[in-house]
Amino acid sequence: MEIVILPDDEAVARTAADIVQASLENDSPVLGLATGSTPLGTYSELIRRHCEAGLSFARAQAFTLDEYLGLPAEHPESYRSVIRREFTDSVDLPAHAVHSLDGQAPDPEAEAARYEAAIAGAGGVDVQILGIGTDGHIGFNEPMSSLASRTRIKTLTEQTRRDNARFFPTPEDVPRHVLTQGLGTIREARHILLIGLGEGKASAIAAAVEGPLAAACPASSLQLHPHTTVLVDEGAASRLEHREYYQHALEHKPQWQAY
Ligand code: GLP
Repeated sequence: MEIVILPDDEAVARTAADIVQASLENDSPVLGLATGSTPLGTYSELIRRHCEAGLSFARAQAFTLDEYLGLPAEHPESYRSVIRREFTDSVDLPAHAVHSLDGQAPDPEAEAARYEAAIAGAGGVDVQILGIGTDGHIGFNEPMSSLASRTRIKTLTEQTRRDNARFFPTPEDVPRHVLTQGLGTIREARHILLIGLGEGKASAIAAAVEGPLAAACPASSLQLHPHTTVLVDEGAASRLEHREYYQHALEHKPQWQAY
């Protein structure tokens, strides 16, 4: 893991956008897209570069991480709708190349298997953007998810339902069940960008980066990944014990070494 502590969310967004932009030079780039508030700055920065500097996503495909079970695709809070509204509709990524899980699939297990096959068929994910839940979840892999898990149904914790209630008319409207890429699925991405913003994420980031590898903090499974970059602002970095070392390593990063 490379831990990059940046002064604020704008610097995090610019660095994440640089990494995504570099991946767009691949022949058939495949992006893994997270929803939630955390990547919104990164998406805004990518949209800005598309509008002002011609950054093109025309050859790219994208896969979202997860979906609420039971929400129709056109529901404004389905992750299929959210990713289009917040990002892909504002760049030249073709609509048919934005892949999502179907939260209303009659057979959710078959839908999960279809999604795994679609990701593999696209050649796997080049850059996976991830936020982190306050309980350390990534995608919707709640604590005690198998570290080897694949795309499947999960039941949300009440904490996650409370955290996500701000997007729904009432807390009761937050679905209880979801489909999510598994921890094993996510770790097959070639480069993972874990983004943490604000003090509210400081404990989860510390557990993910410096805690034991444990199902109790699903994001800690990224410790097994060969190329994860953790981008955090000062708030999210505030509980990291080894922050001086991370900053020292960053300041002495060889010029030739990219993220
Ligand atoms: C949801 C999503 C996650 C996201 C998390 C954190 O639960 N399934 O992918 O990382 O929320 O959200 P936020 O970035 O809004 O804090």
